[in-house]
Amino acid sequence: MQYAKITGWGKCLPPASISNDELSQIVDTNDEWIRTRSGIRSRRISHVDTATLATVAAKRAIDCAGIDPTGIDLVLLATCTPSTMVANTASQVQHDIGATNAAACDANAACSGFLYALQMATAQIQAGMIKKAVVIAAERMSWHLNWARRDSAVLFGDGAGAVVLEASNEPAGLLAAKTGCDSGDRGILHISNCGTNTDRYQPLGPSEIHFEGREIFKRAVKGMSEACDDVLRQAKLELADIDLLVPHQANLRIIQAIQHRLDLPDDKVMVNIDQYGNTSAATIAIALCEAVERGLIQPHANIMSAAFGAGLTWAAAYIRWGERVTPVRQSQAELPPCDKTGLELVMPAVKACQGG
Ligand code: ACO
Repeated sequence: MQYAKITGWGKCLPPASISNDELSQIVDTNDEWIRTRSGIRSRRISHVDTATLATVAAKRAIDCAGIDPTGIDLVLLATCTPSTMVANTASQVQHDIGATNAAACDANAACSGFLYALQMATAQIQAGMIKKAVVIAAERMSWHLNWARRDSAVLFGDGAGAVVLEASNEPAGLLAAKTGCDSGDRGILHISNCGTNTDRYQPLGPSEIHFEGREIFKRAVKGMSEACDDVLRQAKLELADIDLLVPHQANLRIIQAIQHRLDLPDDKVMVNIDQYGNTSAATIAIALCEAVERGLIQPHANIMSAAFGAGLTWAAAYIRWGERVTPVRQSQAELPPCDKTGLELVMPAVKACQGG
């Protein structure tokens, strides 16, 4: 039996940020509301496109694994905010990381995208079709925000995370997964004005995120908890066997509700939404990487992950870590420098949204 072991991990958070207090200078909101309703304190704003964020995260994961990029068979990029639709964004990343022998493909399952992509790449390795893959999740959510709408503008951020998967005889990597989609409710979370369902000859206005927060909240808690139960059954594990839950970071209260339902203590739940907000598909990839960096993932750790997003897609995964929790080589990969603050970066969009 072949497994798809995680041998490298990397993340890329753009340097510019906007705190809640700074946000309240451009949106009718305040730190107290955002913190108590969502757990978010700050979010990163990217000065580069999605492909560039993805490339740096992927290069860092490749260095962490200590592999040659020409040996990679597949570059799979989970994103719902691609730099370009045609050519796909993964082809840009494949070029920029030097993975010249790899297939390159984008996958869109919104916030569930990383776990969906992990499942797809793992299945190809397990089937013996490929040996090495880099699975990336990268999003530039700030690009789609309407800065005149306080209900959505405060929740999202930009970033990317990546893992390298390598064929191995050791039972490690994604060992059980459950993915699904409640399409009957797909209307309650979507980005408008960005597809071929629009009239290309009419002025549409900018794209924009729409959602019914309370409906999503209920469905996210139920969907992610039930998917976790399913995965535990598949893996023949008890909750007590799980060392760490790495949930999608959409809202701290959603995470806490799942934690409560699964009866997990605080030290078994990875949380970083306070720093980065909701980076859609990238939240789990970033959180997984940060959990290793914080020492929360030890050799052979049993990790549970769960996601929920537009579609309404959902996913849960049981991941068994390998032996190594430190990089093989330190990465020199960096984003181009950014000479603007977060507020300066969004100001043109703020003025456009406010009609000025
Ligand atoms: N600052 C201040 N007040 C605000 C803000 C803000 N940023 N946004 C909304 N309000 C006001 C509303 O106008 C409303 O005022 P009113 O009572 O005078 O009408 C009041 O706050 C309550 O608004 P609700 O939308 O009912 O607030 P709720 O408690 O539901 O919290 C939230 C909203 C945080 C979005 C919550 O519903 C939630 O966490 N939902 C799930 C997460 C989610 O939907 N994320 C986006 C989708 S992406 C994903 O990853 C699944």
